[in-house]
Amino acid sequence: MRYWSSCKDPGRISLRYYVGCSLVALSRLLRRVVDQIRRVVALPEQFALIIWTSSEIDRFARAGWNSRPVVRHYSRRDDWLDATEKTLVETYCMKDGELLNVACGAGREALMLARRRLRVTACDWSPRMIAEARRRAQEANLPVRFAVADLTHDLPYPEKAFDYLFLTNIAYSYIFPRWRRVRFLRQAHSLLKPDGVFIISFATASGEPRIPAGLLEWLFMRLRRWASFNREYEPGDRFAGDGFVHIFRFEELAQEFQEARFLVKEWLWEQCYAVLTKG
Ligand SMILES: C[S@@+](CC[C@H](N)C(=O)[O-])C[C@H]1O[C@@H](n2cnc3c(N)ncnc32)[C@H](O)[C@@H]1O
Repeated sequence: MRYWSSCKDPGRISLRYYVGCSLVALSRLLRRVVDQIRRVVALPEQFALIIWTSSEIDRFARAGWNSRPVVRHYSRRDDWLDATEKTLVETYCMKDGELLNVACGAGREALMLARRRLRVTACDWSPRMIAEARRRAQEANLPVRFAVADLTHDLPYPEKAFDYLFLTNIAYSYIFPRWRRVRFLRQAHSLLKPDGVFIISFATASGEPRIPAGLLEWLFMRLRRWASFNREYEPGDRFAGDGFVHIFRFEELAQEFQEARFLVKEWLWEQCYAVLTKG
């Protein structure tokens, strides 16, 4: 009772309230306008996908990943990206086996896995990333074996050498086009021991219904018929953030795993992960 009696009139809406609402509405409107402008500004970047061939896209991507600012950014990382990575490692990498960390960057997860007593081998196609990863491993006195290797070519490891393969941070989506992804998966299949486990991460269309549909997709699928354009362009190929990515639909990714004779032990579609075995 004392509270109500101390308020002037709880039912009355003040002018100050309306001014606040107008400020919120104005801010939302401006945000929408800025988002639209950002989309338009990003369009020329998307067109690079249809102008370049896959090997030109690779060249551009590799230069980006190998650039000093990007390497510096990744070399500062020393923790699990999220709870998913940690849970997957705790669930599936129980015994002290041989682990291959592909697209390892500056060694973030390779170093953490080596601290867990796994015998870690790691590779990335960026010489600077590998040099930085090596330096960090030496500094931490961790026996990780590093190599510069491109996932789209032959990997320098013997068959059935690994208990675990680990590919984080949507790196499967950095491989173009589909036939090279399936080739990489087949190699991964042959590198794994019969009871091995492959933890793999990819970019998904969740939360973005326009991907991989949309006007741009329609246009690029028509342009790719012409010799001077990227004939290997596929729906879902995008320029996003750090570089080129392929954004998957569920059926498409499931088909690629199946083609390489992998069985999916666990799907974590929302978290952009899957756990694969040889069955
Ligand atoms: C997002 S970073 C992730 C680095 C590290 N795994 C991490 O999470 O901190 C992706 C890495 O994939 C590597 N990469 C991309 N395409 C590759 C390819 N075709 N072969 C080998 N490495 C590749 C890049 O050089 C980069 O270091």
